[in-house]
Amino acid sequence: ESEVFKYYADGEWKTSSSGKSVSIINPTSRKTQYKVQACTQEEVNKVMEASKVAQKSWAKTPLWKRAELLHKAAAILKEHKHPIAECLVKEIAKPAKDAVTEVVRSGDLVSYCAEEGVRILGEGKFLVSDSFPGNDRTKYCLTSKIPLGIVLAIPPFNYPVNLAVSKIAPALIAGNSLVLKPPTQGAVSALHMIHCFHLAGFPKGLISCITGKGSEIGDFLTLHPAVNCISFTGGDTGIAISKKAGMIPLQMELGGKDACIVLEDADLDLVAANIVKGGFSYSGQRCTAVKVVLVMESVADTVVEKVNAKVAKLTVGPPEENCDITPVVTESSANFIEGLVKDAKEKGATFCQEYKREGNLIWPLLLDNVRPDMRIAWEEPFGPVLPVIRINSVEEGIHHCNASNFGLQGCVFTKDINKAMLISDAMESGTVQINSAPARGPDHFPFQGIKDSGIGSQGITNSITMMTKIKSTVINLP
Ligand code: G3P
Repeated sequence: ESEVFKYYADGEWKTSSSGKSVSIINPTSRKTQYKVQACTQEEVNKVMEASKVAQKSWAKTPLWKRAELLHKAAAILKEHKHPIAECLVKEIAKPAKDAVTEVVRSGDLVSYCAEEGVRILGEGKFLVSDSFPGNDRTKYCLTSKIPLGIVLAIPPFNYPVNLAVSKIAPALIAGNSLVLKPPTQGAVSALHMIHCFHLAGFPKGLISCITGKGSEIGDFLTLHPAVNCISFTGGDTGIAISKKAGMIPLQMELGGKDACIVLEDADLDLVAANIVKGGFSYSGQRCTAVKVVLVMESVADTVVEKVNAKVAKLTVGPPEENCDITPVVTESSANFIEGLVKDAKEKGATFCQEYKREGNLIWPLLLDNVRPDMRIAWEEPFGPVLPVIRINSVEEGIHHCNASNFGLQGCVFTKDINKAMLISDAMESGTVQINSAPARGPDHFPFQGIKDSGIGSQGITNSITMMTKIKSTVINLP
């Protein structure tokens, strides 16, 4: 029997009274790699109680001291980059190099957040009354930003460390306490990351990490009356959470179907490089991956040819060997991807490569001549399969992009900056990248989706602000 990793509450590592565990299957070996505690609702209640108490004194801790602890945690996190990356490789099959990058990026994010926090939380506003009709200058209004209370963070499997700290650090610097529910695949990486915060010496109860089955504690956590804010990244579950959640601020980053529009005048080598990087890095398992290419017919053959030449060079295999394409996270995910591929085959898409799958490993595949009646034109595979739709006008491309339920990011390739700006304005997505593949980072940039892609805006500054509330004090003069 392998060890069951403990959960983190009240500044200690604990075993659940449930006596049950959740298995984490290694996507490559498809065998159980780790086990984590299956926490109970009673344990969630205890965590919330401790979290409430810890938050009250944390909110009174000087801002510079909060920042100091975050800087410490960032440094420890970076020191632990190799063992954490090893967990990422085993749990989510992230290529070894990218796994190290994720941890380092996370350390940088935590430090940046501490710096940004002391600046933006260190100042408020001062207003006078006589700018509004009918008022004399007899009221002075002072505003500051106060914490919300308990922030519940639910990150996804694809960045279990980075998308956890992007919620943890803003919550803490702003004076909130934090309850983390890591994804099952990635839970051990997240626990190790939490260990770094533990070593930094945060007060007991301020940070907790609850593991378990979504079916048992998922709704219980998101509907818990003690929770004052939910920051979630993931799939459709986010829509369900937002429908049920109480009167609390929500930050949601859900799926995407990021379009890449290619005009005739584009630098086609740049286009091909970005399609391959954008579409196939981490085997397409990113919300910001390029998920549909909309290319002008006149340059389509050249683009497809150039992309195919690069796809042929992608290495396929285990994450330990730093292969470009690694097994997708679960068998059910691989089955879903296969369903989209089969549908495209039946409806006549052109297969640029042969479809190949071994276990969870799916070889990179470009599908040309995809039409709107195919599922893959609209659904997100979250895998290394990329559809190409040939268009005859820019309007056609914009129309396809805007007909999607999603609106996370998009990109347009052209040398004509005026055209690019008009297209960016016309695209209904949270961000449009001109001449580069979509990406969330640098992590201080605003990051948001419209429609089914999300609620609110992330990025370090926006997340700190979102996790606070304005408090006013008005001085009334006689
Ligand atoms: O899939 C999560 C999303 O936040 C993507 O981040 O850095 O791969 O663009 P990134």
